[in-house]
Amino acid sequence: MSKTDPTLWQYTEHTRAKHHLLVGYLHAWFPIIASTSRAINVIDGFAGPGRYEGGEPGSPLLMIDAFVGHKNKTPRMEAAQVYFDFIEERHDRVVYLQNELAQLTLPANVHLEPVHEGSFDVVMGDILDAIPATSGLAPTFAFIDPFGYTGHGLQLSSRILQFEKSEVLIYVPWPHITRFISEVSIEPALNNLFGDSSWQAARAEKGKAAARILHGLFLERVRRAAGFAAPFEIDAAPGRGWAGYTLYFGTGSVVGLEKMKQAMWRVDPVAGSGFAYAANPDQLMLFSASPDFSLLEAALRNHFGTERFTIRQAETFTTVETPFAAEMHLKKKTLAVAERAGRLEASHPANPKRRACTYPPGTVLRFKS
Ligand SMILES: C[S@@+](CC[C@H](N)C(=O)[O-])C[C@H]1O[C@@H](n2cnc3c(N)ncnc32)[C@H](O)[C@@H]1O
Repeated sequence: MSKTDPTLWQYTEHTRAKHHLLVGYLHAWFPIIASTSRAINVIDGFAGPGRYEGGEPGSPLLMIDAFVGHKNKTPRMEAAQVYFDFIEERHDRVVYLQNELAQLTLPANVHLEPVHEGSFDVVMGDILDAIPATSGLAPTFAFIDPFGYTGHGLQLSSRILQFEKSEVLIYVPWPHITRFISEVSIEPALNNLFGDSSWQAARAEKGKAAARILHGLFLERVRRAAGFAAPFEIDAAPGRGWAGYTLYFGTGSVVGLEKMKQAMWRVDPVAGSGFAYAANPDQLMLFSASPDFSLLEAALRNHFGTERFTIRQAETFTTVETPFAAEMHLKKKTLAVAERAGRLEASHPANPKRRACTYPPGTVLRFKS
């Protein structure tokens, strides 16, 4: 899109998938974060006008509604002070969004700053600079959703992620980059995006092959900055192959990672879209009509061998090291199947009468050789 593009544009399936994931995650995140924090920040760094051509709500309205319209609001959510900051570069879109926001009736604990007009990297940099060294940033979720790849970079995301309980969701459309990868003019934006010149390794390749190199490098950098990272391939359609339009979630929390993976699996119940690509872009072929949970059993067996391990260790391993979401896929779909088939032993030292194929905290497991 260029500076002459209209204020609003068409809603696409691509945007819908992005929004499902965003809203799905925020539904889980708000109650969790409000259980320990009184103040919460939500930042939309590339906010857009707040509406699409057909009247569909944009990410700022969806993020507000994920809190205000939450179906299971906890008392702590009612007590938390939530601050929404929207950043948008184009004046016409700022005006449109401000008008949309003015029409909302909000509870007293929801605070909307006037829309920041400017470039995300500059405005966000100023917001972070203004935080006194002695105080921190309240837990923050930042959505970074540009059309292209300019106006943000990993150094800025790392600054956000330095603060406790802060998380980022970054969209990168690799095909927009690989088309111009050999051009000199792209260098400053990519140096900024990656925080270094490592991306130049992709110049030896073209098209998808270059995109895969960039994806691997970027995912690793998000993981380094945040602690944990999960990619989600937005355009993934079974059989179509990896296209490279990817959301990257960065968090320091295993719980956050697990909740985001659940949101990803809800958007794409067949492949948890994008996970399969994380290690090996061709791996999606392993998922056909439904997820293959024998892959999770194999990963657990491979990791723990025939040593004893706790249900807690199995959960953390599943969330952090595999494409699966522990809460959705581990107990009934994987461990119980293996136990019933005689491939797995389970016991509970404090509860010898534990029911077979149930795995309460404290359960100890061992794969049979
Ligand atoms: C993909 S759209 C955002 C869509 C919105 N997040 C949603 O889901 O409804 C990207 C927006 O970022 C704006 N933009 C472009 N460059 C920017 C920059 N450097 N800083 C802030 N906003 C920018 C564009 O004008 C556009 O409205």
